[in-house]
Amino acid sequence: MSDLIIRGRVLTFLSEPQGIDDSGAYRYIEDGAVLVRDGRIVETGDHADILRLAGADARVADHRPNLVLPGFIDAHLHFPQTQAIASYGAQLLEWLNTYIFVEEQRFQDPGHAALVAGRFMDELLANGTTTAAAYCSVHPQSVDAYFTAAEARGMRMIGGKVMMDRNAPEGLRDTPQQGYDETKRLIGTWHGRGRAHYAISPRFAITSTPEQLEMSGALVAEHPDCHIQTHLSENHDEIAFATALYPEAKDYTDIYARYGLLTDRMLLGHCIHMSDREISVLAETGAVGVFCPTSNLFLGSGLFDRDRFDRLGARWAVASDVGAGTSFSMLETMDEAYKVLHLQGQRLTPFSSFYRLTLGNARALGLDAHIGSLHAGADADIVVLDARAKPAMEFRMRRAASLAEELFILQTMGDDRCVAEVYVAGAEMKAKTVPARVYETA
Ligand code: GUN
Ligand code: ZN
Repeated sequence: MSDLIIRGRVLTFLSEPQGIDDSGAYRYIEDGAVLVRDGRIVETGDHADILRLAGADARVADHRPNLVLPGFIDAHLHFPQTQAIASYGAQLLEWLNTYIFVEEQRFQDPGHAALVAGRFMDELLANGTTTAAAYCSVHPQSVDAYFTAAEARGMRMIGGKVMMDRNAPEGLRDTPQQGYDETKRLIGTWHGRGRAHYAISPRFAITSTPEQLEMSGALVAEHPDCHIQTHLSENHDEIAFATALYPEAKDYTDIYARYGLLTDRMLLGHCIHMSDREISVLAETGAVGVFCPTSNLFLGSGLFDRDRFDRLGARWAVASDVGAGTSFSMLETMDEAYKVLHLQGQRLTPFSSFYRLTLGNARALGLDAHIGSLHAGADADIVVLDARAKPAMEFRMRRAASLAEELFILQTMGDDRCVAEVYVAGAEMKAKTVPARVYETA
């Protein structure tokens, strides 16, 4: 394939920004370009320099004056909940029982799983998200549908079958042995195939017996390069229920610690109502707390205390948590993150937001060698952002005086309409996503 030059105003991060305009933390190239060959980035730099490096038959995609960034990364969401976003009126446990545990039973049907998986991947791409870590349903066929849809689009995706053997309807329960066997088989089929990464996924302490968490620990020990994902400390009733089910544990975090689940591959959704002791355990083990602002507001769960995570040295990531989360857009997610932190007197600077969406989340997932920045050798997963995509944004942008301001406008006013293009391993994908694609009704 011939070289591709993606031209625009290039922004990529080198480290976590410290302060409002830490210009050492990022590279911004006004007339920049990314040279792509065979799905990878050969070089990122000034357009004039990139032109000299490119083959004579290079194709140029000129996106000026739009911004060119690494594709967004979503560290936690649920693909079977795509059609359950906006389920009214309940907090976590009631919401799960009333809506989610009904919806997820549909994924028993491989045809349904395939349909939703396709829509899910296209929705991510339409929003500029090129990698995500998602829960599938308890049914192995939902995992096959998920990775098949990701593979068809060439996407680097993390996912796994939820294991749940109690406190759920019969149609959604496995057993400790079945959860172990099915996970093992799915890891064998999918983990490391193309760009697929498997996540061992006990849903949370409430829906797993001690035997199932024990077997999850065995899976983690046997597959140390797989991710692990679960939920922690999202809601007061959930915490009371979980700790009552595991009376020997010091606290909710200790439940997972006792079964050997806390490693630097562990992604813990929510982590809202945590003691200093618990956050310190995450810091010691390298486990990642995942901040899901639209979800935490929608379910009335609480406010993630980012400053305490930073002060205690614990890692954190950001995520949509669709379908408790209300939007696939990581721009809208960061808009809500800003407000959640603001309510607590904490600041989220525009550069910090875009660091989190890209390199920050890539580091949290341990994938920064491949994704999250536009370094030579990285996968060519790229988003092109138009800060004037909506009339109100165009009008607001006439007053914008800096890159930081433009980023903040994108985050505060933007959504999928601002995603002018998205590349997966160097392939243009926007025209292939919702609503351009024609779907059967379902
Ligand atoms: N805790 C256990 N399962 C879920 C889920 O599907 N969504 C959210 N937000 N929290 C959970
Ligand atoms: Zn979740």
